Amino acid sequence: MQQTKILFIGLILAALSACGSPAEEPAEQLIVAKPGAGAAPDSSPAPAAGDLASKGKAIFAAACAACHSVEAGEASGAGPNLHGILGAKAGRVKDFAYSQAMKTSGVIWTPMELDLLLANPAAKFPGTAMAAGKLTDAADREAVIAYLTDISK
Ligand code: HEC
Repeated sequence: MQQTKILFIGLILAALSACGSPAEEPAEQLIVAKPGAGAAPDSSPAPAAGDLASKGKAIFAAACAACHSVEAGEASGAGPNLHGILGAKAGRVKDFAYSQAMKTSGVIWTPMELDLLLANPAAKFPGTAMAAGKLTDAADREAVIAYLTDISK
């Protein structure tokens, strides 16, 4: 009786270890695949830019998204849609009622022009309808501009 028990346990152990080996293989492959996927060479500059843009995204959500949509083709809100704003001409959204100052400015939205707008919208465009969104912290402006650059790709 004792021997039968030992044999039985032995069979279970053998069955378990037989199941164990194929299950381990994918796990090993996963570990090998991660560093081998090419993430290591290009990941060193990417996180820095990505971090700035994601900080900018958070600031945008708090300070801009109430008025501005960012998806392509999305309707404008109190402010015009900003998809692809980098490199675009000020006052480009057809059905949006811009202020005269912004519409006729001829400004092309470079990072520098965006910085000037965000530092003080009313100073850059007297009579602007952008009543909020002033960012006094230069680092915040840099982050938001990185985000706007991201959504313009
Ligand atoms: C209270 C609503 C409001 C908020 C908040 C706001 N904006 Fe605006 N924004 C506007 C309006 C209105 C205009 C159009 C201004 C004009 O016609 O003078 C505008 C224009 C712009 C433009 C120029 C768009 C174009 O088509 O030329 C940019 C860029 C912009 N805003 C970025 C931002 C960013 C970035 C923030 C957040 C930091 C922000 N805005 C916050 C209302 C807002």
